[in-house]
Amino acid sequence: MNFTFTEDQELIRAMVREFAQAEIAPRSAHLDETGEFPADTMQRLAELDLTGMPYPQIYGGAAADYVSYAIVIEEISRACSSTGVILAVHTLAGIPIYQFGTEEQKQLWLPKLIGYQALGAFAITEPAAGSDAGSLQTTAVPAGDSYILNGTKTFITNGAEAGIFIVMALTKTGIGTKGISAFIVEKGTPGFTIGKHERKMGIRGSSTTELIFANCRIPSANRIGKEGDGFKIAMAALDGGRISISAQSTGIAQACLDEAIAYSKERVQFNRPISSNQAIQWMLAEMAADISAGRLLTYKAAYLKQIGKPFTMEAAMAKLFASQMAVRCATKAVQIHGGYGYIKDFKVERLYRDARILEIYEGTSEVQKMVIAGNLLR
Ligand code: CAA
Repeated sequence: MNFTFTEDQELIRAMVREFAQAEIAPRSAHLDETGEFPADTMQRLAELDLTGMPYPQIYGGAAADYVSYAIVIEEISRACSSTGVILAVHTLAGIPIYQFGTEEQKQLWLPKLIGYQALGAFAITEPAAGSDAGSLQTTAVPAGDSYILNGTKTFITNGAEAGIFIVMALTKTGIGTKGISAFIVEKGTPGFTIGKHERKMGIRGSSTTELIFANCRIPSANRIGKEGDGFKIAMAALDGGRISISAQSTGIAQACLDEAIAYSKERVQFNRPISSNQAIQWMLAEMAADISAGRLLTYKAAYLKQIGKPFTMEAAMAKLFASQMAVRCATKAVQIHGGYGYIKDFKVERLYRDARILEIYEGTSEVQKMVIAGNLLR
């Protein structure tokens, strides 16, 4: 066993941490207040070769290992939860094309995503198909060398700004998940519009929208894999995506600990810093141990993915534990701040709101338990 990062991975962490703390963290409160998309930051991430990390250089990628990618998501999320999820979902959108697309599709679409000519989004969820993603209703009916899409997607991260959408739709009804196929849809395609923009509790710098398809014609060449492969493509992509949300959780939890340590040393009550109280020390110690466990699960899952071993269950375990761990850390960080933790002048108020979604998106905690139990009982 080897619990150390490679020299290259340490270098990436140091570089990204410095960049994120200097350029991303100072803007995070503004993004939360305004709901603005961090366009400049995303452009800078592209210049630093961070918008297509796990993809090969022939498509413009950084050819980085998946552990390095998780490191980047952790450090960026530690500075800004919104920027972390925007990058995570952008990267997720490339996975179906890279793992299941034809060579032609890879050459056409991956450089656009990796080079950040277009932001990516991943659309499976519908108003009546959340955890039960396989019950989606959007249809894709063949028409000559095209498909006609009809239906509505909901809760789509990056929906407002994305240029390339991976969309799951039914090419055959009545046969459950085996009727689902995966498609690439470009922004601006006639019949494709962005619907409601959600007003959210946290991660407010990332957009969450509806997508509406009304007789939207797309080329058959935009189908990824065979008809009926879409659900497995989506699940395989989400396996990787769940590692990035674990990394995001670890980064947010670390930010909670950073804030809690700094505040507890400054805040004086009963004539001494509150950090000298064992009650506070125990909370800090529990947070540190929790974060360390979440980090280990996250990097173990990333490592298994990297070396080509099965990692579905490990990714679900990492996502389940790390997301719940981040919520525990955010709760303790607010508690350590006392009344100040409840007001917007202090960062932990935002971290508490940001952390809550981690237990919900890319599969709720309950879905992660279904995946883990399914693997145990197979
Ligand atoms: N990889 C490959 N194939 C898989 C798979 C995986 N990880 N998981 C399941 N499959 C296959 C199964 O083997 C099965 O194939 P066969 O029919 O050939 O046997 C098929 O898919 C159907 O599998 P299940 O019967 O297990 O499917 P199910 O309908 O019971 O659903 C589920 C399983 C795990 C609950 C799934 O619906 C799920 O993951 N739901 C949550 C959806 C989700 O995570 N949504 C997040 C949206 S994206 C997002 O949130 C991004 C963001 O904004 C941050």
